[in-house]
Amino acid sequence: MPVDVLIGLQWGDEGKGKIVDYLANNYDVICRFQGGPNAGHTIYTDSGKFVLHTIPSGIFRSNTINVIGNGVVIDPITLRKEILGLKEIGVDVSQNLMIAQKAHLILPSHRYLDAASEASKGTAKIGSTLRGIGPTYMDKTGRNGLRYGDIFRSNFKERYFSLKEKHIKLGDVHGAIDFEWNDEEWFDSIEFLKSFKVVNCEYFLNKSLDEGKKVLAEGAQGVMLDIDYGTYPYVTSSNTITAGVCTGLGVAPSQIGDVIGISKAYCTRVGSGPFPSELFDHHGEKLQELGNEFGATTGRPRRCGWLDLVQLKYSVMINGVTKIALTKSDVMDHFDNITIVDSYNIDGQVSHELPYDLCDENYTTNLKSFKGWKCKLEEVQKNGEPLPNAFETYITYLEKNLNTPIPIISVGPGRDELIVR
Ligand code: GDP
Ligand code: IMO
Ligand code: MG
Repeated sequence: MPVDVLIGLQWGDEGKGKIVDYLANNYDVICRFQGGPNAGHTIYTDSGKFVLHTIPSGIFRSNTINVIGNGVVIDPITLRKEILGLKEIGVDVSQNLMIAQKAHLILPSHRYLDAASEASKGTAKIGSTLRGIGPTYMDKTGRNGLRYGDIFRSNFKERYFSLKEKHIKLGDVHGAIDFEWNDEEWFDSIEFLKSFKVVNCEYFLNKSLDEGKKVLAEGAQGVMLDIDYGTYPYVTSSNTITAGVCTGLGVAPSQIGDVIGISKAYCTRVGSGPFPSELFDHHGEKLQELGNEFGATTGRPRRCGWLDLVQLKYSVMINGVTKIALTKSDVMDHFDNITIVDSYNIDGQVSHELPYDLCDENYTTNLKSFKGWKCKLEEVQKNGEPLPNAFETYITYLEKNLNTPIPIISVGPGRDELIVR
């Protein structure tokens, strides 16, 4: 069986968690392949809202195995809190959560470095979630990092303190900052985690595939936050794209099956960096209010703008997207006109491709508007009625221009608030 992939096509927070939770019943194994607790994936279950940061979004389906893969960076404190939070609502992960040996560990001193680096950048800051993501991936590629499998080694504490010392010296380069150290809580969390299942991710997954098991790889962040293909330097520090699945899980490129891209019916971004379709008027405020656009990890307000077809086309190309799920379509119920960015003007020429550097601003956007449907898609779904013509016109235009079907329409945060076309 191939590995199917689910990724965010924009700047993150597209509703990946909800769609993974919905699809999870069709899979045996769900794996996170990159990122860390900078992610916040929201799921509504019978017990209410739950935000996952490190654990895959299949965890609420008791028949799935959930793997935190090699490419993920783990903060033991956050992971422990997540496991205990799940336990509180009756979800026991002891049997169906597995943690990859080769996943790297986020130390408190990585968070310290993240904060010191951001503080030193002033107005040019990335707008990081300050979860230590960048410094941890720096240590991974710099060949200094500590991996999950190392927690069982006798020299683990020694290695921890030697790395911490190095980080403090590095922090001095940025300029010292106030920081609440919590090494003790970190080590307590490590002890707590020792009782959970550790796995050699690449062998486990390849064996599962050989046995005919169905595997879904769950992306975090989105294409435009990818370290190579996003709006550099305003990006995260991992490959959020389909290619990251192979390096993050240890599966071959030939094993990749369906690639499900998640896009909002508009666009949001948290943190700094270019956002060509961003709205600074009442439309932007309306999207933020109706979409309740506040970060699931940091609570920061999300910047809002129209859906950007040029940007989506780029994401479809880079990832080999085979189908798209359009989320938050219900937010557009209240608009007289549904607007999208249809093309760019770059140096006076119409372009359907993104410029080299979106930070350069030598471009403008061309908008296209569709008639709004002005009815509640959620009720259309509940009553089993056909989708309004205005909605079909809009979605068909997107499908044609993206050359990709959009079979899943999400019309609310709830598990069942979905239309399958
Ligand atoms: P993720 O990081 O991609 O998993 O997305 P987040 O959980 O950070 O943000 C998505 C937000 O939108 C969450 O609050 C979801 O509960 C909510 N959401 C998901 N799908 C829909 C939808 O179709 N309509 C509405 N109104 N909210 C949705
Ligand atoms: P999910 O998985 C939205 C953004 C941060 C910042 C930049 C770098 O929930 O979609 P980092 O903490 O990685 O150093 O931050 O990336 N960012 C996200 N934005 N959703 C996310 O994850 C994000 N993870 C990181 O706001 O601009
Ligand atoms: Mg999120």
